[in-house]
Amino acid sequence: MDRTVLITGATGTVSTALINALRGSGLTIRALVRDESKALPDGESTPSSAILADDIATRSAFRLKHGGGRLGMIDVRDIAEFAAVVLTAGPHTHHGRTYTPTGPESLSFAEVAAVFSAVLGRQVHYLPTGDAEIEARLLGVGVPVWIVGMLTEYARAYASGWGDFTTSDFRDVTGYEPRGLAGFIRDHADAFSSRERSPVV
Ligand SMILES: NC(=O)c1ccc[n+]([C@@H]2O[C@H](COP(=O)([O-])OP(=O)(O)OC[C@H]3O[C@@H](n4cnc5c(N)ncnc54)[C@H](OP(=O)(O)O)[C@@H]3O)[C@@H](O)[C@H]2O)c1
Repeated sequence: MDRTVLITGATGTVSTALINALRGSGLTIRALVRDESKALPDGESTPSSAILADDIATRSAFRLKHGGGRLGMIDVRDIAEFAAVVLTAGPHTHHGRTYTPTGPESLSFAEVAAVFSAVLGRQVHYLPTGDAEIEARLLGVGVPVWIVGMLTEYARAYASGWGDFTTSDFRDVTGYEPRGLAGFIRDHADAFSSRERSPVV
């Protein structure tokens, strides 16, 4: 059957990965963007993830306002592959279903730092911080005020345990296991490799 999928926010991180995952699927892809000059996704990271990667590369530390909250975080490539499986299945296979795909384990950011340390072979530190500092940095690199506010709300929710769970949805739908954090770090090692500026802590 000839089917068309409309991908909104097509310049974004998740949508870029989804467009890549759908290549060769036989589906016709329509990409909706608000700025035509960005019409071809370039896969660049968002400002907030670029700040984290830069801090790990230059200071071997990252700052977040997630406190001791744990999170069943999922690799963006797995979000895309999950969506591609759903979209390429017959139109009725997933009709009316709601899924909550997660990564394989729920980790605190102290544990995330330990995984970074083990994979990169140097000590990486998680530095819990307050809202004002992070907000100022995000605003400084041009993140809109409303997104900074949304990220603050997310961080408070995660700090209170809102994201501390995993599900089997990814495996149930795709038939294989979601990627783990260590693999994510290995696959993006260039972004985190040491460009020492000044050690923190
Ligand atoms: N990535 C994650 O870990 C994660 C986790 C939880 C939830 N989410 C949610 O998943 C969604 C996608 O995330 P993402 O990481 O892919 O985001 P992203 O990289 O920031 O991409 C956002 C996309 O939305 C478009 N957009 C933003 N404001 C718009 C507006 N007012 N009108 C039209 N288009 C607009 C952007 O277009 P421009 O390129 O023109 O700016 C971009 O294409 C977001 O709702 C995010 O909150 C993501």
